[in-house]
Amino acid sequence: TKLVLGVDVGGTNTVFGLVDKTGNVFLIDSIPTHGDKSAEDLFKRLFEKFYQVSEDAKEDFELAGIGIGAPNANYYKGTVENPPNLNWEYVDIISLIKKFSDAPVALTNDANAAALGEMYYGAAKGMKDLIVITLGTGLGSGIVVNGNLVYGHDGFAGEIGHTIYDPQGRQCGCGRKGCLETYASAPGIKRTVMELIANTNFKSKLRSVSYESLDAKFITELALQGDKIALEAFDFTAKVLGIKLADAIAHTSPEAIILFGGLANAGDLLLVPTKKYLEENVFHVFRNKVKILKSELNEGKSAVLGAAALIWHELNTMVINQ
Ligand code: BGC
Ligand code: NA
Ligand code: ZN
Repeated sequence: TKLVLGVDVGGTNTVFGLVDKTGNVFLIDSIPTHGDKSAEDLFKRLFEKFYQVSEDAKEDFELAGIGIGAPNANYYKGTVENPPNLNWEYVDIISLIKKFSDAPVALTNDANAAALGEMYYGAAKGMKDLIVITLGTGLGSGIVVNGNLVYGHDGFAGEIGHTIYDPQGRQCGCGRKGCLETYASAPGIKRTVMELIANTNFKSKLRSVSYESLDAKFITELALQGDKIALEAFDFTAKVLGIKLADAIAHTSPEAIILFGGLANAGDLLLVPTKKYLEENVFHVFRNKVKILKSELNEGKSAVLGAAALIWHELNTMVINQ
């Protein structure tokens, strides 16, 4: 059988899986990205791990291609250019992968890959207009209009994470200030917690936690227990996200916005207030029209599936089981 290796390069971890043409995932694994090192270092470790974990099955499949989702990826050129959360400058990904495998390679933005995954296999099945927002180390977006991903003139379309919420706001990895991603992301909510610790008197377990052990998962656990700072942090994150998503709705009028990635695992804790702030701020013609959903694909598979789908498409062999 032919299988495609789908790869989702994240700011913190890189997830990969072997996918068949109907979207079954046979192997899913991950490695730390180590974004301070080079792209070559990442793909060297990725292929080592991949060949190791697929060793027992290697007689049973043929590698039909490699689909990759990565931040600041340019689909037209096959490059990644200065991603804010990785220390890479200009990387020709397609040529780089040739050092490790002869299989055909396709590249798209990681959030675009997640949008394809949601559209073919997940919460957006059957929809033609949608936006997928990935909430991880950064904030990514994949915008689908009339059934097609929007790439734009230069191939970088869909960078909602680097639209500005507050021009005097937080320093962003892209060099500017106040980008949405500095608020609505895993590091963003952590920054909000630190500000609330410094600027309020709210009682909170978060005051006695070391900076290293403070992550989005822990903030979520405490919010579920009713911790005041954790709840405030979610409310503020949702406010910033809701206001910016209201703008995004005015651009393309999606049927749904699907949240995916680490911070989205907080579920209703994030979804309910985001929806509230979105409705308060959206242009009235869109009010109560747009669904806010959480990804249904577990293990963070959306981008792996979507990246693999790029190859199945090129081979014209993709099969969708509705
Ligand atoms: C990058 C996007 C990416 C997102 C999520 C942002 O910082 O600019 O291209 O989709 O992070 O990884
Ligand atoms: Na995108
Ligand atoms: Zn930015």
